[in-house]
Amino acid sequence: MCGIFGYVGPRDAVKVTINGLKKLEYRGYDSSGIAGIKDGKIVHCKEVGKIAVMESKANELNLKLDVAISQTRWATHGKPSRVNAHPHFDNDHTLALVHNGIIENHSALRKALEEKGSVFVSDTDTEVVAHLISSNYDGDILKAVQQSLPVLKGNYAIALVHKNHPHQIVVAAHEMPLAIGVGKDETFVSSDTNSFGSQVQEVVFLGEGEIAVIKKDQFSLYDSSMAPISKKTKVMAQQMEDISKGEYEHYTLKEIFEQPQSLRSALLSRCLDEYGTAILEGLNFEVTELLSVERILILACGTSLHAGYVASYMLEDMARIPTQIEISSEFRYKNPVIPPRTLVIAISQSGETADTLAAVREIKAKGGRILAICNVMGSSLAREADSCLYLRAGAEIGVCSTKAFTSQVTVLTLFTLLMARMRHMSKGQGSEILQALKKLPDQVQTVLDRHDEIQALAKKYSHHDNFFFLGRHFMYPAALEGALKLKEISYINANGYPAGEMKHGPIALINADCPSITLLANKATYEKMLSNLQEVKSRNGPILAIASEGAHGLEKLADDIFYVPETIDETAVIPTSVALQLFAYYVAKERGADIDQPRNLAKSVTVE
Ligand code: M6R
Repeated sequence: MCGIFGYVGPRDAVKVTINGLKKLEYRGYDSSGIAGIKDGKIVHCKEVGKIAVMESKANELNLKLDVAISQTRWATHGKPSRVNAHPHFDNDHTLALVHNGIIENHSALRKALEEKGSVFVSDTDTEVVAHLISSNYDGDILKAVQQSLPVLKGNYAIALVHKNHPHQIVVAAHEMPLAIGVGKDETFVSSDTNSFGSQVQEVVFLGEGEIAVIKKDQFSLYDSSMAPISKKTKVMAQQMEDISKGEYEHYTLKEIFEQPQSLRSALLSRCLDEYGTAILEGLNFEVTELLSVERILILACGTSLHAGYVASYMLEDMARIPTQIEISSEFRYKNPVIPPRTLVIAISQSGETADTLAAVREIKAKGGRILAICNVMGSSLAREADSCLYLRAGAEIGVCSTKAFTSQVTVLTLFTLLMARMRHMSKGQGSEILQALKKLPDQVQTVLDRHDEIQALAKKYSHHDNFFFLGRHFMYPAALEGALKLKEISYINANGYPAGEMKHGPIALINADCPSITLLANKATYEKMLSNLQEVKSRNGPILAIASEGAHGLEKLADDIFYVPETIDETAVIPTSVALQLFAYYVAKERGADIDQPRNLAKSVTVE
């Protein structure tokens, strides 16, 4: 988490830097700060809260800087406070430093530095880096940085300014993205190239352990031994996306309503009707390699993990390929067996999730092949994977992932179809899947058109503080995802559970104050779900059912029913999830939560 933005150039460095930083707010928004050099001194401004708070303070102070570095924070070490906000300084304020990542050995370093006279003012791990570099400084800032980095354990992207070197920023990266943006007589640095916008024509990504000195009209790159490196800049792909809220009150609502379009886009020119299969540009594995895949391992976190569950069921069922799914943060601490002919699918909207990236790197080190399913072009995952299928969902700004989820399921269904058709699936079966996929945009529109019904249900249920989301088979990941949406944006305790598992303990929680949102759009398990509804009803649990149009036998069991358009079991998660997204949105609205930027969260989880 956390975003870094820096600028060296002729324009108002404070304005340019804060504007860039605002585009990184998705990476954290509990505090922010900016520092730079003015008249030979380090000057700074830090505030708790969103970047706009820091911006107005900087304006109030009439802050002017020649070069600037800034950071928007998601607290790891030390609560959100002005003193813990970045930048951090050494004792004499000779340098200011911003950092993304975690310094794991910060306690030992802090102790050693204190013994040498450092006085720490914050609770952060970052402050030790500022003191460490300062302690190694003898007039050569580059050397001081290079000598300090090998001592650090953990991961980092850092940017710093030093008062004796007033026209430059020094940056370094280890397992964290950092890019240099080259403009016209000006140079930028950022954790995400999308924040550069049209002012940058070319970019360079810092590689592992690399250090760079950034000046107005040039930058110099070094490897960890200080040997100069020359790297070709890449032309920056300009993304001319509309990222305004338009007529919507929140990005989250806008993104929920964008789904008919994002699904069409995910499907566009990827359906090969003539052969009942999919054609996937960007899938640059040879046919022979795809045919030789004997196992699949899926890695992801959060919502992407839930899309992965859907895919794991489909890949086994339709393509008959044994598929294992692992939570990235758990997987990376195993000593995994990756048998030959295993294809690894890493799913991530942002492509920057630290745990997924770490798991991918571990697999690459073992020689595994990675297919990324990703939304953000040029992200770390997209660059590091052997092949990448993009979601084409457009920018997802709301922290709560909505349209990315339905696009992930769609792209993964297409991939499964391709793998299944390359094996034994008939053209007829393949065509059925394609037909179901193609109907989805209109079916989702039908759900969206009835948003007022869902809003009324949300109002009715919004006073409850505990919920179960229950489903079987494809509706189990839908239950996990529905519960995650509700907890994330409305701060309500919601448990996604496989309905059959309730009687093994959780059913003890069911009472009149604990509603169950029961998901019945999976035809193969419909009858079993009815029995589970009986069990909940017998214990006075309120029931809101989401079922396919035409489903029978529910009326006497459920207190409320919302019918979604009927589709095949494999794709039923999509209309159901859209209904659940709206439900979570309207409950959160009823409860007055900060929907686009919920407390304690960040859009991109770039720390472990
Ligand atoms: O960018 P990613 O898909 O890798 O992010 C993974 C999770 O952090 C993310 O899906 C998170 O769970 C969402 N905010 C949930 O809405």
